[in-house]
Amino acid sequence: MIAKYSLSDCKVILLPKIADPRGNLTFIEGERHVPFAIRRVYYLYDVPGGAERGGHAHKALHQLIVAMSGSFDVVLDDGAERKRFPLNRSYAGLYVCPMIWRAIDNFSSGSVCMVLASNRYEEDDYHRNYAEYVNVRSNS
Ligand code: TYD
Repeated sequence: MIAKYSLSDCKVILLPKIADPRGNLTFIEGERHVPFAIRRVYYLYDVPGGAERGGHAHKALHQLIVAMSGSFDVVLDDGAERKRFPLNRSYAGLYVCPMIWRAIDNFSSGSVCMVLASNRYEEDDYHRNYAEYVNVRSNS
């Protein structure tokens, strides 16, 4: 049976931060600081003002979204509830579990959005139509 993940399973994770006058250092270990093994890293950058990214849900993928530089908002939606998470710290990541619709907007100039993912890119893992996604959720 597929676990029915909801918005309450998603949360901001505070990552280790080694403060140093020479510059701070943060590290992320798979299955320790994030609840999945890390198999892919990708990042969004050079995002023009007013752009929106995301607009989909993943069927099985777990992700951690980090504002490596600048700021943006991640809007999560499980078909029943919607919540906006402003991210603006390199030591705080938003854990997004499978079957949660997400959009990312309000990018500041020069921001970098890094995503750690539990699997390689697979287009079959996406729900790209919101109505279909809600329908699948309500029938599972
Ligand atoms: P998509 O996940 O839709 O971007 P976003 O959610 O940030 O708006 O991906 C955009 C395009 O990039 C799409 O054609 C698939 C491709 N892509 C890859 O080839 N590999 C990847 O790891 C990712 C995340 C996307």
